[in-house]
Amino acid sequence: MSFDKVFAANDESIEQAADCLRRGELVGIPTETVYGLAANALDSAAVAKIFLAKGRPPQNPLIVHLADPGQMAQVVAASLDNEIQNQIAALAPLWPGPLTLVLPRSDRVAVEVTAGRETVAVRVPANEITRRLIRRCGFPLAAPSANRSTYVSPTTAAHVAEGLGDRLAMILDGGPCDRGLESTIIQLHGDAATLLRPGAVTREELQSRLGVAVELLQVNDPNDLRAPGMMREHYAPRTRIQLISQTTADSIRGRCGRIAFAPVAKADAERFYRVQVLSSTGDLNEVARKLFAAIREFDSLGLDLILVDECDGVGIGQAIMDRLTRATAGHKPPAS
Ligand code: TXA
Ligand code: MG
Repeated sequence: MSFDKVFAANDESIEQAADCLRRGELVGIPTETVYGLAANALDSAAVAKIFLAKGRPPQNPLIVHLADPGQMAQVVAASLDNEIQNQIAALAPLWPGPLTLVLPRSDRVAVEVTAGRETVAVRVPANEITRRLIRRCGFPLAAPSANRSTYVSPTTAAHVAEGLGDRLAMILDGGPCDRGLESTIIQLHGDAATLLRPGAVTREELQSRLGVAVELLQVNDPNDLRAPGMMREHYAPRTRIQLISQTTADSIRGRCGRIAFAPVAKADAERFYRVQVLSSTGDLNEVARKLFAAIREFDSLGLDLILVDECDGVGIGQAIMDRLTRATAGHKPPAS
């Protein structure tokens, strides 16, 4: 593991990271959602390295990170419909923050970033270290989550080092991520809007700001081009993982770990080899913040099975259940 590449974020290490990025190298960056694997979004050769490092299919486009909304001019189409501009204005108060907008692109953005599409995904992350880094660079940063393709997203610098340490120039350590789940992604059409990925900015909040119904796009066909990378099996640990509702008393044998959203009664807890309680009050924002780290930790214990709690799919619960449904999709209990 290349922990020698992890640097506490300060003026000096941020300048060093900017230098790496100017040279077309890859840098692990902190954001409020998850850590990103960043490259200059205007440099095709640099962006190509991201796909190689992650083992990411080239048809899955990347999110472009901006220091400020004004930087959209570098990557978003110069002339946008009035209606789309109004929608951007309605959502502007949510930036910086965990919200990604899919908009018509400019020609300047590297074609690898958008995977040949006419749209580009942009966001202003709410992490001052990364915003300072982008300002120093002067160019926006393309960054997917800094995990190997299909593994769980990283919420600490150590997670990045474990998965990709040998494939990047350095990692800026900004501490554990505040939100813990990837950003909400919404495509703006002017007269309508489509949720492509639920996140900490909730569907309910988007609807009330935009004044239109916002529905999550359901993708079942791997060739559906509207939401690349939204296929079911994603974010999965290597260990078998199941939702608690998929479990029978019978399946709890051997070394079974339970990720609980709230405290568990003693008699219940005793059935498991290991229990981790994510929130003493069942606070779902706290659950979201700690969920990926817990899955990664349990995945390193050599367990036979990980069982994870569930919640209602409203508010932040929609994002939590989205990630858990994907993580458990490849680990269905055998049909009886
Ligand atoms: O919170 C986040 O969004 C993190 C941090 C690092 O910012 N990034 C992240 O990136 O989650 P990634 O690459 O793991 O997920 C980006 C998603 C992918 O599912 C991709 O298909 C979608 O965004 N995406 C990117 N550009 C798109 C576009 N033009 N149209 C539709 N979907 C797009
Ligand atoms: Mg990802």
